[in-house]
Amino acid sequence: MIPTPHISLENKDLIAKTVLMPGDPLRAKFIADTFLTNVVEINSVRNMLGYTGYYGKKKVTVMGSGMGMPSIGIYSYELYKFYDVENIIRVGSCGAYSPELKLYDVLLVEKAYSESSYAKTMGVSNRKLLNATKVLNNRLIKASEKLNIPLRKTIIHSSDVFYRMNPDEFKDIYQKYGAEAVEMESFALFANARALNKRAACILTVSDSLVTHEATTAEERQNAFTKMMEVALNSL
Ligand code: HPA
Repeated sequence: MIPTPHISLENKDLIAKTVLMPGDPLRAKFIADTFLTNVVEINSVRNMLGYTGYYGKKKVTVMGSGMGMPSIGIYSYELYKFYDVENIIRVGSCGAYSPELKLYDVLLVEKAYSESSYAKTMGVSNRKLLNATKVLNNRLIKASEKLNIPLRKTIIHSSDVFYRMNPDEFKDIYQKYGAEAVEMESFALFANARALNKRAACILTVSDSLVTHEATTAEERQNAFTKMMEVALNSL
């Protein structure tokens, strides 16, 4: 069933078996411009920029997921199910819930906690915590060791809400579930991988802190996030 409703691509071969997924489509362009050779632009609908190229000898696609679980849920499902993608590695940003985290720390997600109904509604799982795929995480750990980039293995919160009426509520989620940081996509990505028997992982860079209220600018993020991208690319 290609083209799909959200990816208007006729030829499956233009998409690699492994896809790196930043939230921001402009970050997908940045990754392609900075790290990849022989890049072909994928024209997908809804402005979600995608590129396929090579990192050394490894073919890889980078495509934006958009923000939030419904968005990554749609794009990752179509990539897995209809474009024969096997591995999706989300490379994103997160807000720190833990006072131990500093801006620009790089996290490897072992589990995503969410109060979202995504996995339940999909018919995959009634659990509130979903796992990343171990083999992908092990490759990411190996790559980080080779590059000497520290990676903190952790639980994160996938939230549906960015702006909250009660900004201190994060402390309960940190206490109860051990979620050290918040983003808005991993839980749906992990649910899709589970539903379709595919692989999913997520590495995140801390872009702001709910504890200290420090934040990075969009410009700083673009460059500082290269460490995380190198880990992802070297795990291929
Ligand atoms: N909340 C949700 N998602 C995020 C945040 C945040 O504070 N920072 C980066 N992604």
